Amino acid sequence: MADRLYPPSEEFVRHAHVQGMEGYRALYERAKEQPEEFWGELAEKELDWFEKWSHVFEWNPPFAKWFVGAKLNASYNCIDRHLTNGRKDKPAFLWEGEPGDQRVITYQELHRLVCRFANVLKGRGLQTGDRAIIYMPMVPELPVAMLACARLGVTHSVVFGGFSSEALKARIQDLAAAVVITADGGWRRGKEVRLKPAVDEAVAECPSVKNVIVYQRTGSDIPMQDGRDHWWHELDKDVSDDCPAVPVDSEHPLYVLYTSGTTGKPKGIQHSTGGYLLQVRMTMKWVFDLHDEDIYWCAADVGWVTGHSYIVYGPLAAGATSIMYEGAPDFPAPDRFWQIAAKYRASIFYTSPTAIRAFIKHGDQWPAKHDLSSLRLLGSVGEPINPSAWEWYHKTIGGERCPIVDTWWQTETGSIMISPMPGAAPLKPGSGTFPMPGILPEIVDLEGNPVEQGREGFLILKRPWPSMLRTIWGDPKRYADQYWSRVPGCYFTGDAARQDADGYIWVLGRVDDVMNVSGHRLSTMELESALVRHPAVAEAAVVGKPHEITGQAVVAFVTLKQGDWKPEELAEDLRKWVAKEIGSFAKPESIRFSDGLPKTRSGKIMRRLLREIVTNNTVAGDVTTLEDLGVLTTLAAQHDDEA
Ligand code: WTA
Repeated sequence: MADRLYPPSEEFVRHAHVQGMEGYRALYERAKEQPEEFWGELAEKELDWFEKWSHVFEWNPPFAKWFVGAKLNASYNCIDRHLTNGRKDKPAFLWEGEPGDQRVITYQELHRLVCRFANVLKGRGLQTGDRAIIYMPMVPELPVAMLACARLGVTHSVVFGGFSSEALKARIQDLAAAVVITADGGWRRGKEVRLKPAVDEAVAECPSVKNVIVYQRTGSDIPMQDGRDHWWHELDKDVSDDCPAVPVDSEHPLYVLYTSGTTGKPKGIQHSTGGYLLQVRMTMKWVFDLHDEDIYWCAADVGWVTGHSYIVYGPLAAGATSIMYEGAPDFPAPDRFWQIAAKYRASIFYTSPTAIRAFIKHGDQWPAKHDLSSLRLLGSVGEPINPSAWEWYHKTIGGERCPIVDTWWQTETGSIMISPMPGAAPLKPGSGTFPMPGILPEIVDLEGNPVEQGREGFLILKRPWPSMLRTIWGDPKRYADQYWSRVPGCYFTGDAARQDADGYIWVLGRVDDVMNVSGHRLSTMELESALVRHPAVAEAAVVGKPHEITGQAVVAFVTLKQGDWKPEELAEDLRKWVAKEIGSFAKPESIRFSDGLPKTRSGKIMRRLLREIVTNNTVAGDVTTLEDLGVLTTLAAQHDDEA
């Protein structure tokens, strides 16, 4: 059966930056045939540079450079240039805290805040090339801190506020960060989520950290360590509003963002300045069809790459007005998002399939209470969106009037790689449709040969692009092995995909041992290493189980050391343990105890079989390499301990 197509309305097309499939194809062909001219012209037109490049592109596989020798500053491009192009008094952020407090921050005001905080950092001795860790709630001072770092050429690394002190410590140590910028806490579901205690615990074992700067958000009582800890508002008293942006090399690391890999150690994905900024800026136009009058809302957390590229750098480089919200989508009631969208007259809304599935579960009465007629475009990111959720989003939120951009990309790619251009592609629910200009995807088999049309294979990208990661912080070998060695010279995404007869790309999910829970990437190895650090645990294997709301849920198979353990209590204890070691979003949904784990003869745990058990409660796959069949029968017979 042919898929139902959803073409954009004539009105949408008339107003769009890229009109119709001809418009898309022209851009795509130009970028493919003349990449250096294409990107060079855009860089000149769309960004401000202090010094121009000698050449656009340099490729010493697998290391790329874009705009070689050029100098610019990301903070300048996101703020200063808007002070003279008519956007001075335009809101950059319409911010709302969970308790209901509001702030409107114009580009002029953002400039003042960023300059002052950059001066604070300077005052603490921070210099170009240093690294800063940012561990904050979703308050405007979070982007302010990022932009202040960028202004000085200090490489920042934002650690999601849901991460535990252990995870925070590992990131601080890997970067040898000189400063940690944090807050007393933030608000989530009406409760204070404290951040400073985790910082104190982590920093105790991080000798590189000389300063901890604390923004006061909740006003709760927290201990401050003399000489090391400083209140943001106190340091702010003695600084000026003026802080020139430091010109940095186009390749200067703007930020490092940690993401899960297939081993226990998280990878520090290192992004550049020039190429990164250009491509996030361009996708604001191509994918979100951003116009000056739009009220744009990306409802992600800044702690993830979506927030970096599409709350901070992309929208600000494009001079957008963004909504930013601190808290939970369902607090105080499941219509908080719709209330915010209606109140600020949002025209573009970008969220994850996990959030959409949760909204569906809450029921249509919640969006029905609000006037969502200002919306004109919807977006989805983080995992494949199932067609039924897509249809609901289209009808119930978009009033059948808004195109949906299903955007495929990764922390590593920096910007959106595959997505409809909303004024061009007729949509098919569940498909990311077509690649962005300059992106050359291919679907291949294990040998790197293209698979037949319609067949599933590995998604690779055949040509480097401006916003791609430059390396893994401190580990270029891992970067080369992980991304560029499976199909030599091509970027290996780790996702499976297929292309249909109309050329539409369907991304199907990860092929490696990485799970996707509520749009958060978790590596099985990271979780397993956390579990086996618990004194009771002998061995652990973790797999993802399909989950109605979160996409996947974590199921842990655990074998215990000798001892008198009470399974119920221990299961709860282990879940708490994982929350402490990684973060509460990583807590296993269920824990199954067993005497052994299914393994190959070479001792490799067969996660594939465990996945089958949790999905079907039976094992149909190939078990010829299995060592102990008895173990399997026990595991399959057990019921979930839905702790
Ligand atoms: C998955 C998030 C299907 C994919 C920006 C990818 C998607 C991983 C989509 C990256 C989508 C993201 N359709 N799958 N539209 N978007 N993914 O690094 O498996 O947190 O490799 O970046 O999420 O997750 P990350």
